[in-house]
Amino acid sequence: MRSAAERVVREDRVRRAGAAPSIGQRLTEAISALENAGVPEARLNAELLLADLLGTDRGGLLVRRREPLKPALAERYEVMLRRRAGREPLQHILGAQEFYGLSFRVDRRVLIPRPETEGLVDAALALDLPRRARVVDLGTGSGCLAVALAVERRDLRVAGLDCSPEALEVARHNARRHAVDDRIDFREGRIARPPEEWRGAMDLVVSNPPYVSEQDWNGLEPEVRDHDPREALVAGPTGLEVFEELLPAAFGLLRPDGVFIAEIGCGTESAVGSLAATAGFRAIDVRPDLRGIPRVLVAERGADREART
Ligand SMILES: C[S@@+](CC[C@H](N)C(=O)[O-])C[C@H]1O[C@@H](n2cnc3c(N)ncnc32)[C@H](O)[C@@H]1O
Repeated sequence: MRSAAERVVREDRVRRAGAAPSIGQRLTEAISALENAGVPEARLNAELLLADLLGTDRGGLLVRRREPLKPALAERYEVMLRRRAGREPLQHILGAQEFYGLSFRVDRRVLIPRPETEGLVDAALALDLPRRARVVDLGTGSGCLAVALAVERRDLRVAGLDCSPEALEVARHNARRHAVDDRIDFREGRIARPPEEWRGAMDLVVSNPPYVSEQDWNGLEPEVRDHDPREALVAGPTGLEVFEELLPAAFGLLRPDGVFIAEIGCGTESAVGSLAATAGFRAIDVRPDLRGIPRVLVAERGADREART
């Protein structure tokens, strides 16, 4: 038998729970709040935030839509929605982004890995590199390329270089998260001046360098312009400035039979292709991303070539 006090407490809990909006109601309000704030894909964003909070997925929200949303969770949801309505990226609020099937920690210190960059991993894996081949990722950021390659090919010896010590903290965290930290040599430094001991030692150089022009930067979505690190994206007035130093640097790092793979900006394939040829590369090929945009440059160093710059 319950005591009268226990009955009152229980009835109060039931009454308060009854008064709380259901998960479905709260979601509907959240979608319209994000729409009003001009957030693209408002429904998807509202659902992903609430699913993360409830430790479920979008299907789980549907199953639980009639349940009341507990006040403590409702408050936390409110905070998340306020951040997203202020155009903070969804990935910063969730603290993670998936890349090549792996979850990467992301925050203001690094560029959020983009789906088109996965094409570089595909191109690298298709090379069928020899066992224990050496690979370096120039401008490693979150470490997404270096970590994905180290996970996919457990025998590779991988290195990553970035000029941002803050980005390298995130890259090291991501390498530990995926248990490849003992196989990735992360270094702080500039692309134009990589460690001397890497010279002529690499079978593969991969890079997703900054390639946005200063003018294009101003037109980017607030999520990118106000939250991604500017130096991770902007190369200079034309957008080609980092490639001008990256291509000769990559050429110098490669073994004679080595390969260079880089992500390039929309519409820059002939400009970057010419820079690659000037640096001494041959068999220069540019492959499209999933939207058909020329995106992944693959070039061979060539055994008998010397850098021309
Ligand atoms: C476009 S982000 C790419 C990050 C990551 N590889 C990816 O694909 O998501 C470029 C990275 O290069 C670094 N970076 C830019 N200029 C650099 C330079 N001159 N030397 C070394 N790192 C540079 C930035 O700090 C940033 O982390």
